[in-house]
Amino acid sequence: MDLLHQPEPHDPGDVRPAARPKPGVAGSPATEAVAADPEISRMTTADLLAGIERLRRERGAVILAHNYQIPEIQDLADHVGDSLELSQRAAEADVERIVFCGVRFMAETAAILAPESKVLLPDPLAGCSLAASVTPEEVRAWRAEHPGAVVVAYINTDAAVKAEVDYCCTSANALEIVRSIPEDTEILFLPDMFLGLYIERQLGRRIHLWLGECHVHAGFRPEDVAARLAETPDADLLLHPECGCVSACMYALAQGDLPADRTFVLGTGGMVRHVRQTPSARVHIVGTEVGMLHRLRKEAPGHEFRALKDDAVCEYMKTITLPKLYRSLRDDVYEVSVPTDIAERARTAIDRMLAVTAPRA
Ligand code: 13P
Ligand code: SF4
Repeated sequence: MDLLHQPEPHDPGDVRPAARPKPGVAGSPATEAVAADPEISRMTTADLLAGIERLRRERGAVILAHNYQIPEIQDLADHVGDSLELSQRAAEADVERIVFCGVRFMAETAAILAPESKVLLPDPLAGCSLAASVTPEEVRAWRAEHPGAVVVAYINTDAAVKAEVDYCCTSANALEIVRSIPEDTEILFLPDMFLGLYIERQLGRRIHLWLGECHVHAGFRPEDVAARLAETPDADLLLHPECGCVSACMYALAQGDLPADRTFVLGTGGMVRHVRQTPSARVHIVGTEVGMLHRLRKEAPGHEFRALKDDAVCEYMKTITLPKLYRSLRDDVYEVSVPTDIAERARTAIDRMLAVTAPRA
């Protein structure tokens, strides 16, 4: 099995982002505040769950949780989903408050789509290494080098970056969005290079790429796939398109070195739909952040799920905890808002995405 094939360098229109420190969660004001809080520091898990239940009703709050959240938060949320589903939930929310258990770019998207609701993020340092890999100034400079190009941004970007682009997309609709752009149009895709390479390979279309990556998914190597498949050769292989091994796996698939009927490149919502639709119990190797295993085990209890890498943990997602969620509801912190001019321009790119996206089953 030639899983060690590496893709050749891409094209001269690509841009490698400047080296910059990864955002950190150490010393978060929310972590310090809950540790020093006289009420919260005495509460048991049962107290916190009861308190969250009471406050969400008193405050008219909807709790949205991404598929990578800790199990306790997934279990109490009003809606658990991928980035696309959670944006759609926010857009249709008619509530006083949305508490977003996820990361900042997701809460910003909710604030743009639900301007009548107050959007709260329980820890303001819940960032994203991928979103941090590109700035609005860099998008403007890249665009200036390619007049006439259409710029497509993955949803894992700051609102100020979305305000500079033409289309947004998520892992669930990236192929649909790029397919909707006329064939003869030059495309700049940012910031995830692995997702960009995947789109290019699937659509047979040349795209200029921003060579950014998510530090969690970039860590998945072809060797990890080979090792897990050696343990469970009959398993389904589910890979998020942000994974660093996707190009090599697509190559192996084309060579017949991976089974075509058991290899799937899917966003987290696609993984949920895949296991729901798999009729008989199977083993699934899950190539994404480990929070996904809880969601999949609940969706398909008879199936067996193994992480492709046990240490694929996103510290930004995991910085949201029950004490911080309780404090967020109790103290109305931390509000996420987007300046009106940025929100309006970012909304155009998000609305274009939602208009092109077909309803999901
Ligand atoms: P999904 O949209 O597939 O849930 O992915 C979001 C994300 O942050 C992946 O790391
Ligand atoms: Fe960002 Fe990666 Fe965490 Fe997803 S897993 S939120 S892309 S850092």
